[in-house]
Amino acid sequence: MPPDTTDVYAAIERRRDEFLDDLRQYLAIPSISTDPAYAGEIARCAAFVHDRLEAAGLSARTIPTAGHPLVYGEWLGAPGKPTLLFYGHYDVQPPDPLDQWRHPPFEPTLEGEDLVARGATDDKGQSHAHLAAVAAMLAERGSLPVNVKFLIEGEEESGGHAIETFVREDAGRVLACDAVVVSDSAMLGPGQPSLLYALRGIAYFEIEVIGPRIDLHSGTFGGVVQNPLHALAAILAGFKDPDSGRVLVEGFYDDVRPLEAWEREEMAAIAIDDAAMAAELGVPELAGETGYATRERIGGRPTFDVHGWWGGYAGAGAKTVLPSRAGAKFSMRLVPDQDLTRVADRVVRHVERVAPRGVQVEARLLHGARPLLIDTEGPLIEAAASAMEEVWGRRPVRVREGGSIPVVSTFVDVLRAPVLLLGFGLPDDRLHAPNEKLDLRQYAGGIRSIARLLDRVGAL
Ligand code: BES
Ligand code: MN
Ligand code: MN
Repeated sequence: MPPDTTDVYAAIERRRDEFLDDLRQYLAIPSISTDPAYAGEIARCAAFVHDRLEAAGLSARTIPTAGHPLVYGEWLGAPGKPTLLFYGHYDVQPPDPLDQWRHPPFEPTLEGEDLVARGATDDKGQSHAHLAAVAAMLAERGSLPVNVKFLIEGEEESGGHAIETFVREDAGRVLACDAVVVSDSAMLGPGQPSLLYALRGIAYFEIEVIGPRIDLHSGTFGGVVQNPLHALAAILAGFKDPDSGRVLVEGFYDDVRPLEAWEREEMAAIAIDDAAMAAELGVPELAGETGYATRERIGGRPTFDVHGWWGGYAGAGAKTVLPSRAGAKFSMRLVPDQDLTRVADRVVRHVERVAPRGVQVEARLLHGARPLLIDTEGPLIEAAASAMEEVWGRRPVRVREGGSIPVVSTFVDVLRAPVLLLGFGLPDDRLHAPNEKLDLRQYAGGIRSIARLLDRVGAL
């Protein structure tokens, strides 16, 4: 029987304000990884994480990389016991559009039980829960029942490769472990924990359509020159069948692994209420690939989305211009067993094939992540499920997540250890959007869950 964890729960409760204050400081650092203007804040955030790992009783090291620094910490005082590697990211998405925030994004603000700030749930709040659990347990008992390692990166949100390179070069020496713990996702709802067993991958592209040397008068040149914006619109529209919602890139579905019967059954048991979701999102109805329920579309099917485009004149009033250039950002979400490189090649060839005459078109891959499908059984997964059940009152359900966490597939390849994808957020946390929040009850439960996990794994 695993030991009692109530001593640590009490310590966590006692230090509640201290942890919260510390999390607020973490959230106040605008560690936006995609914008070079914030490099100084990224460095400050890495230093913050480094300092807190030390303060918790781990020995820490900041690892410079070609991109943003990695922060590593370890406590290896339980020889012969299993080792858990905690992964998280200290970088955040840009806060735009700023005018839609109720408070400045980097001034964490309490609204009832919600702590509102950029990064609150993704992933500062959740990675801080890992840290708080270990800090509380070490302070309370003077030791941990297992060995722990922390690896916290600063470019998860911007498709950086630093961690990938580090993990591959390390080849499981520094990072050797018995399981990886990731909390960078959500539960199904306040009382229903989940254990993810799949993540979608992504192939993210930028496309540019180059037309005449300069912007032209659309009266004197309209009708005789290919308009780059028209060409771009046609290319983007041609990616998806408007009726079936299927992606029209040749061979795109070739390697898509069909959902298994048990998966469709379990997905049906936690089906999404389409009308409620549409109402919540403020759309008249949901849209997607024919033949699949919403949860199947999110977790089990690949898709295509445009993220932004530009070209021509979009300011006040009218301007009769035939733009010289147009461009867009788009991505495909990938599922097992689609291969990132093969899909990327197919997309580039597709664009070449459908590009209208009279313009030059270039599509290039900006970054990517491979899709992931992992085991749902094993002693460590069982320990995690039991810990979650004890803390949240219900057994976690198995879920396929639609988002991507690029390094996880590299952990699986290199470390050959099970990955425990235990998220503590909620589905309405507004990640990547204005007024991102973390419910503090989820944060507290997350800390307790990690403490319980440590005790359970220590008793294996
Ligand atoms: N934490 C998210 C991934 C996620 C989203 C998990 C929703 C569970 C639910 C992560 O920080 C993220 O946003 N990843 C990016 C990766 C991309 C930039 C390569 C994503 O999915 O868009
Ligand atoms: Mn995240
Ligand atoms: Mn994110």
